[in-house]
Amino acid sequence: MDSFIIRGPSKLEGSVNISGAKNAMLPLMAAAILTGGKCVLENVPDLKDTETMSELLRGLGVDVEFNNSRLFLDASKIESEEAPYNLVRTMRASIYVLAPLIAKYGHARVSLPGGCAWGPRPIDLHLKGLMALGAKIEIDHGYIEASAKELHGAEIILSVPSVGATVNILMAAVLARGITIIENAAREPEIVNLAEALKQSGAKIDGEESSRIQIEGVREIEPFNFRVIPDRIEAGTFAAAAVITGGKIEIRECEPDHMHSIINKLSECGANIKLFKNGLTVEAPAKIRHAEVETGYYPAFPTDMQAQMMSVLCLADGASSIIEHVYPDRFTHVAELGRLGADINIDGSVAIVNGVERFEGAPVMATDIRASSALILAGLAAHGETKVLRIYHIDRGYERIEEKLVALGADITRISG
Ligand code: EPU
Repeated sequence: MDSFIIRGPSKLEGSVNISGAKNAMLPLMAAAILTGGKCVLENVPDLKDTETMSELLRGLGVDVEFNNSRLFLDASKIESEEAPYNLVRTMRASIYVLAPLIAKYGHARVSLPGGCAWGPRPIDLHLKGLMALGAKIEIDHGYIEASAKELHGAEIILSVPSVGATVNILMAAVLARGITIIENAAREPEIVNLAEALKQSGAKIDGEESSRIQIEGVREIEPFNFRVIPDRIEAGTFAAAAVITGGKIEIRECEPDHMHSIINKLSECGANIKLFKNGLTVEAPAKIRHAEVETGYYPAFPTDMQAQMMSVLCLADGASSIIEHVYPDRFTHVAELGRLGADINIDGSVAIVNGVERFEGAPVMATDIRASSALILAGLAAHGETKVLRIYHIDRGYERIEEKLVALGADITRISG
């Protein structure tokens, strides 16, 4: 298993280009199934998750080719409707093939994803939503067996604005007979991106930027040629890197409009942030100010930036608090940050982060994508050598992160094996 050796502290300076968003690209890849034709995605990041989703789609009979940030998907010959356990367990977003397969082919067999490193991640809302649209769903030996002769519209009220449930219900509703309304829908930019691609293909969708999405089913949709939005979490991670290392980074090819909560919070910490078209410059303060952070659904502060923000606040001038509202147990990075000298106390979903003078390098272990990036940020600021083990998580969600960091002046090396 690969690891990173980071020698710090380094002050990051320069500019970085942001890649396409993993969490926008994954549903778009699955949506190609709905078109039954040849789709093209632009600005696709070269990630482990891109490979995993490609492998999953190939197993269904989709021809997938990746070439220089373009992904060519030919979904005209679906031969299987099964998403196997060995792929679903490595990438939960595999669940996104469920709705397109039922809506287009009337049947799907998808492995249940199970829990993840920081606790249970249910999919009950996906299943209830699809059942409301007329799908028959049974759980058989760890697999979801879903079938439907024809899907029909329905009014679905989500108890929480789940991104995944909104994606699956939206994709199914596009080909269902009649009108579907999703109340309390997720409003993340990745949902809007998906809705825009589907609309370009002939789907009838309204209100995708609000919490009430209305979909009028159509008989079929055309293949799409569509551009994936920039990754707001990757951009936020580089913004945090500027702040934690006392540096200044120009973050290009991103969408600051998707990043208000991140920009506001880092500004509160004293960062000097200037926006320009498709980018922002983030300059660290002389001393990071403490802050109160609460994660939530878009447009609130994203849970996917919580770990990185925690690394930043570890070096602040006083005590900060972080309340994790989306995944109350998403704190696997806390003990690892402690190994670098952080002073953090957890009480349920609340973390109190007492600022310390500095991090000291140490070996640490990554447990998920964002915990990994938080540990890398801390390692960049730490004095001495930090070894981050199990970085396969980072390869799932950050494109060429070490190359990008080295170009900004970091001393980071990948050790294979
Ligand atoms: N939830 C339910 N039932 C469901 C679905 C969700 O109770 O059927 C709850 C979850 O337990 C959680 C909340 O709803 O408390 C939100 O979960 P959501 O469904 O929105 O999460 P997701 O779709 O599984 C996506 C991202 C995650 C990101 C979350 C929250 C993708 C592929 N994944 O997951 O990204 O943390 O939304 O924004 O888009 C990451 O990129 O590192 C990552 C984990």
